[in-house]
Amino acid sequence: MSMRPLVVANWKMQLDSASSVALAQTLVQQSTPVVELVCCPSFPALSAVAHVLRGSPVVLGAQDCAWEERGALTGAVSPIDLQAIGCAFVILGHSERRQQFGETDAMIARKMRAAFAASLIPILCIGETAEEFRAGERAEVIDRQLRVVLRSGITTTSALCIAYEPVWAISGTGHAAMPEDIRDAHARIAALVSDHLPSTVVRILYGGSVAAENLRAILALPNVHGVLVGSASQHASTLLPLLSVIDS
Ligand code: PGA
Repeated sequence: MSMRPLVVANWKMQLDSASSVALAQTLVQQSTPVVELVCCPSFPALSAVAHVLRGSPVVLGAQDCAWEERGALTGAVSPIDLQAIGCAFVILGHSERRQQFGETDAMIARKMRAAFAASLIPILCIGETAEEFRAGERAEVIDRQLRVVLRSGITTTSALCIAYEPVWAISGTGHAAMPEDIRDAHARIAALVSDHLPSTVVRILYGGSVAAENLRAILALPNVHGVLVGSASQHASTLLPLLSVIDS
């Protein structure tokens, strides 16, 4: 397993194609071999960003994919098409998709299966809501949401990322989880992974208000192999300082 921290930039629906290309160009010029960097633009920008990243160490990811390779699925995007245009990773089960698009664990399991079949590395997002956090249900939620991995067709050679993203710490809140919360959640995920999964390459990421200011402390925690960054990844003025924290 690579010891370099993985930084996944989730640009969500925040950047148009021109801004996505411009940011990708900046990253290609600045990127250092110390970090493994994955950019996840919105679908219309993927091809243009793929072109910019070609031949560079910066990797391309998508923000979602369909659960079939082909089919009568209006509006959906095939994982094999994503792979063909140069994506290596795909974010699945992000809390915004669960909450605003009604994605269920059953749907996410099917998407993971399709992603593995297309040789994409899924970045499975899990994490409790504020309500579940207050009710002390974090462990239960993590266990339940991780069960999709067992139904995903994962094999001993599959690579997988699991992003712990407590919903109450994601975009807009500006408050990352406390180190104790991250430590607990990641320990639980690591234990479940080693108990139940084949000897797969699994990296556990933290996501939720990650920024240059808190990155070093988060990456120093046990079982944290990288971060999934939303807001701070969408502009060079916040992303470059974040990357240089790892660099220094
Ligand atoms: P944030 O988003 O960094 O803006 O909190 C993280 C995410 O939603 O993946």
